Amino acid sequence: MPEIQSTSPKPTEERKKVTTRLIQAMKARHEPISMLTAYDYPTAVIMDQAGVEVILVGDSLGMVELGYESTLPVTMEDMIHHCQAVARGAKYALLVGDMPFMSYQASTQDAVRNAGRFLQEGGMNTVKLEGGSERADTVRAIVGAGIPVMGHLGLTPQSIHKLGGYRAQGKDAEAAYKLLEDAQTLQEAGCFSLVLESIPGRLGKLVSESLEIPTFGIGAGVGCDGQVLVTHDLLGLFERFTPKFVKQYAHLAEEMRGAFGAYKADVKARAFPASEHTVEMDNDEWKCLEEKLSSTNSNILIHDPSMR
Ligand code: KIV
Repeated sequence: MPEIQSTSPKPTEERKKVTTRLIQAMKARHEPISMLTAYDYPTAVIMDQAGVEVILVGDSLGMVELGYESTLPVTMEDMIHHCQAVARGAKYALLVGDMPFMSYQASTQDAVRNAGRFLQEGGMNTVKLEGGSERADTVRAIVGAGIPVMGHLGLTPQSIHKLGGYRAQGKDAEAAYKLLEDAQTLQEAGCFSLVLESIPGRLGKLVSESLEIPTFGIGAGVGCDGQVLVTHDLLGLFERFTPKFVKQYAHLAEEMRGAFGAYKADVKARAFPASEHTVEMDNDEWKCLEEKLSSTNSNILIHDPSMR
């Protein structure tokens, strides 16, 4: 294998595990915080090596990995399975498990139990849930059980049918005021940070400045304390649609199509595997095999002279 050159920090370097306190300190010193989604082991390893501070196992899993139309069908079992893979790969990033639809809405008991599963079974450090003031009691109960909670305001995909589609939120004064109030309520309830999704840039900045806890914007402008993107959007790996707020840093779908096509062409042309991909047998051993086959009257015949 060729040696891979990397400018990213190696996992063996002296690095501290990122904690909720650390990202709060980053906000205090105005240091932007990076968060990305991951759903599998290899992505988590590479993301951790790149030094991304927070890894979210988002319920966007349902759309970008499992092929659902929305995040609504995602189950606790789906989430735990993928959280475990990410936790095996990422040693330094703060790990956030996204609570799926109906894992926290029906009762506070459900919410606390399911949040606990993210830490106990999934290997996460914290959980995220969607919603404003109506979630304050739930947040209090989960935080009361010793589990840090990240809130999520603005476009909350689990409420897609109530919101009437994937559209920007907080665009009029009343909605913006409500969002500011919700952010304060979630902070008071004990959230250690908030995601702000698809809201006007100046509202994202105002909310961020009004809070002590860090905010992570996704389509909420540069004034947030940190940024988050769905990794498949950033990598150009999810082609069904691309939200306006996404910046593509790579075009992996195109690269993958190219690689798969080239592999298929090689197979058809018998250009793969070549000799360097093939284990060979010692000539003497091969001769022994031929002798054994002829002495046992085997009906296996060695036709190919190149094999001799
Ligand atoms: O599920 C997810 O990936 C998210 C991000 C969009 C913040 O909630």
